[in-house]
Amino acid sequence: MNTPIPGPKSMALSERRAKAVPRGLSHGTPIYVAKAEDAWLEDVDGNRYLDFAGGIGCLNVGHRRDEVVNAVRDQLDKFLHTCVQVTPYEGYVRLAERMNEITPGKFPKKTFFVNSGAEAVENAVKIARAYTKRPGIIAFEDAFHGRTMMALALTSKTHPYKAGFAPFPSDVYRVPFAYCYRCSYNLKYPSCDLYCARHLEDTFKRVVANEEVAAVIAEPVMGEGGFIAPPLDYFKVLVDLCHQHGILFIADEVQSGFGRTGAMFASERYGIEPDILVTAKSLGGGLPLAAITGQAEIMDAPAPGGLGGTFAGNPLSCAAALAVLDLFERENLLSRANELGDRFQRRAREWQGRWPIIGDVRGLGGMQAIELVQSTETKVPAAEETRKITQYCYEHGLITITAGSYSNVIRILVPLVVTNDQLDEGLDVLESAIATVCDRKDAVVELV
Ligand SMILES: Cc1ncc(COP(=O)(O)O)c(C=O)c1O
Repeated sequence: MNTPIPGPKSMALSERRAKAVPRGLSHGTPIYVAKAEDAWLEDVDGNRYLDFAGGIGCLNVGHRRDEVVNAVRDQLDKFLHTCVQVTPYEGYVRLAERMNEITPGKFPKKTFFVNSGAEAVENAVKIARAYTKRPGIIAFEDAFHGRTMMALALTSKTHPYKAGFAPFPSDVYRVPFAYCYRCSYNLKYPSCDLYCARHLEDTFKRVVANEEVAAVIAEPVMGEGGFIAPPLDYFKVLVDLCHQHGILFIADEVQSGFGRTGAMFASERYGIEPDILVTAKSLGGGLPLAAITGQAEIMDAPAPGGLGGTFAGNPLSCAAALAVLDLFERENLLSRANELGDRFQRRAREWQGRWPIIGDVRGLGGMQAIELVQSTETKVPAAEETRKITQYCYEHGLITITAGSYSNVIRILVPLVVTNDQLDEGLDVLESAIATVCDRKDAVVELV
C-alpha cells in the first residue's frame, strides 16, 4: 500500500461524485480504479488490491484478458454499432449459435441478446407469457433479478431495492426458497424430503391457480440473496412439478453462469434443462451483454418486432463474448472453479471452528460464501460486523462484497484465473479481518 486507504485522489473523486451522482447509486468501497489485470486492481493513488468481487461476478475469465481485449480491438476497426434490427452482423449470429450449443438441453434452441441481466429477465418473462398465454410468474424469497420494474417485482429484498418504488407489475407470487440454513418450515434436509419444492402444489391451491402461471423463475444458486445453493436434488423436483402443470422453468444464471459453480451453468450441476436460461455478467468478459436462450418453439412465441433493443447485442460485446467462450474451451476454468471453492471451504471451515460469528459456510464450486451471525443458536444476522470486516479488507488490499437479505454474507466472486498464492493472500486478509472484528473489540471501534 502506497498511501492510506482511501488515498487523496480517491477522496477527491468521492467529493466530486457526491455532488454529481445521486446517492441512490451507492458504492461498496471509496476506491477509484486506475487499471486492472487478471485478479488485480490498482487505484488512482497507486494502491493495489486483490479483487474478490470481479465487478460482481462479471470477470470469471479475469480483468482485461488479452484474448478479450484483442477481439474487441479487431471489432473496433470494423464497426461499432449498426443496430442488429436494422443491419445485422455475423458476430451476433455466431454467438447465438454457440450459446445454443453450450447451454443445457439437447433440444433445438434459439438465443437473443440484450444489455443487462435485468433486461434479460424482463424478456424471459415476456416470452414465457407469450408462449403460455398465462400471466402469473412465481419467484422466490431472497431472489434478486434486477432493478427494472418487472425484475424488481421478482426481486425479494425490500431495502434498499424495492422500498419507495411501488407499484410494481402484477401477477408475481413469492414462495420460500431452499434456504436450508434458515428453513422457512423449520425442517432439515434430507429428512424434509424437499418439502419446500413440493409445497408448490399447495401454492397452486392457496395462492395462484396453476393454469394461470406462465413460469417459475429461480437462480440455481442464489446470488444477491446470499449464495444459497439448494440440495442437489431440489431443482429436479421443482422443474418436474412445473412441467406437470405446463409451467415453464426460467433459470436466472446471471450470477451463477459461465463457470462460477464448476460447470458452465449451475443448472448442469443440478441436472436440469431450463426452458429459458437467462445469462449476463461474465458472458461479456467485462462488456455489457446478456442473453436469453430457450427452446426454439418457446423463443419463437413473440411475433417479429416483439423483441429487441437499440444497443442489444452490441458488436463489441458479441466479439468479447466469443473470446470468453473460446477461453472456456481452451482453459480449464471449470475445474479451477472447483479447486478454488475447495480451497476456500477448507479455510472457512477452520474459521467456523474458531469464531462463532461464522454461522454458515456454503456454496457450489467457486461460488462460495460465509454467513455471519451474532450467535449460532439464534442466528441473528451480524450485519454491522460484516460491514466492518469488508471495510477492514479493502483497507488492507482486498476487495470483497456482501450479499444476503440481511446484508450478513460475504461472497467470493474472484476471477477464476486467480493463482493459489493470490487466493491465499486474499484469504489471509479476510481471516485477519474476522480476527480483528471478533477478537479485538477495541480495534472494531476504530473501524467506522
Ligand atoms: C441473478 C441475477 N439476476 C439479474 C441480475 C441483474 O443484472 P444487471 O445488474 O445486469 O441488470 C443480477 C445482478 O446482480 C443477478 O445477480
